[in-house]
Amino acid sequence: MSPICAIDFGTSNSAIALPSGEGVRLVELEPGQRTMPTAVFYAVEGLAPFEPPQRHYGRAAVAAYVEGIEGRLMRSMKSILGSTLATQATDVGAGHSVRYLDVVGGYLQHLKALAEAEAGAALDRVVLGRPVFFVDDDPERDAAAQAALEQAARAVGFAEVGFQYEPIAAALDYETTAEREQVVLVADIGGGTSDFSLVRVGPGRRGRSDRRDDILANHGVHVAGTDFDRHIELAHILPACGFRSTGPSGREVPSKVYFDLATWHLINTVYAPARVAELARMKGFYSDLRQHARLMTVVTQRLGHALIGRAEAAKITLAEGGRTVLDLTMIDPLLAPGATVDEAQALAALDADLERIAAAADTTLAQAGLARERVDALYFTGGSTGLMPLAERIAARFPAARVVRGDRFASVAQGLGVHARQVFG
Ligand SMILES: Nc1ncnc2c1ncn2[C@@H]1O[C@H](COP(=O)(O)OP(=O)(O)OP(=O)(O)O)[C@@H](O)[C@H]1O
Ligand SMILES: [Mg+2]
Repeated sequence: MSPICAIDFGTSNSAIALPSGEGVRLVELEPGQRTMPTAVFYAVEGLAPFEPPQRHYGRAAVAAYVEGIEGRLMRSMKSILGSTLATQATDVGAGHSVRYLDVVGGYLQHLKALAEAEAGAALDRVVLGRPVFFVDDDPERDAAAQAALEQAARAVGFAEVGFQYEPIAAALDYETTAEREQVVLVADIGGGTSDFSLVRVGPGRRGRSDRRDDILANHGVHVAGTDFDRHIELAHILPACGFRSTGPSGREVPSKVYFDLATWHLINTVYAPARVAELARMKGFYSDLRQHARLMTVVTQRLGHALIGRAEAAKITLAEGGRTVLDLTMIDPLLAPGATVDEAQALAALDADLERIAAAADTTLAQAGLARERVDALYFTGGSTGLMPLAERIAARFPAARVVRGDRFASVAQGLGVHARQVFG
């Protein structure tokens, strides 16, 4: 039998797992790192004629962008699955373009190659994680998203492709350390989605191949960390570039560009030459021409990822309380020292999203028809569970449950590895 693997293809971070002895291990993707940003940089600087763009992955991709190398950074590629963008091409500079789905394929291929080097064998069977819903309230587009991910995996040489829900995988990981039988509510709150599973786990249930009876409910919403970044950028950064300002006619300036700039997977759409030209022509819509000039700086110097990265960093600093200063001098030196944001302001911008996520935990419980007190443990995983007010808001709904914090970035991949062994093993 050929060796097997499992991939957690995350909106923000990814990992690839290999079975190892009785357990599972994550492949080292970058020196000392077993998870890496879901990022690809297409470099076009100094290419010979007809030479394809050079690809960098993970932290190296982000570094290439920060260094200002000519090319394009791709992030949040998971968010394009199930949308019309998936089959479209995007410009990466110097006359080159790539199909979004091929960006996904290239990234999966990179993970596969690293795992093959570590396993010392070709890998052609994979379990991929998937959110409970790639797309909310649209079963057709949701199915299309999974089919697109499967197609990308097959295109890079995986002959057998299985799927498992990400929160179920996290439950399987939790179960490896569970000492007694219990009902656990998994909250996996990542970059793109917040997923919940209510699962019966225990030492006696580990390793059973059919777990359908143990899965009491599954639910999720397409709201998570990248949405929080968007709200912070719209509230505290983009007003300096004219967002929500009114023009000489008394009308608000067109806002689409701001929403696109604040949405990780749409940032590159703003850099298309036709779009940049259109934005330049909109100068007359602005009363404060400095705001328009800053917007043009952002699009011509391709500062979109840098700005949303600032919003994300502010969010992470504020996740545990306090205040932070957003440095905006890259768009205008006159904006020094920057915008101060405190926890209360950030939470106000995120409140509706946090409530939707916490409500999804309730819906999960209602689906199972289980009394609240029957939930023994609450298992938190995913980077966004680092946002204390969110974790507390969920925990408050389950006062009888013990709160357990897993490895925020590795739990899903570990659990997918456990599942891969069960289905292929
Ligand atoms: N300390 C922190 N506090 C709050 N948010 C954080 C913290 N650390 C990371 N994050 C956020 O966590 C998110 C990434 O989490 P994670 O890696 O679990 O997501 P993912 O698995 O890639 O996404 P998904 O599972 O939704 O596809 C990002 O939005 C990041 O900003
Ligand atoms: Mg995840």
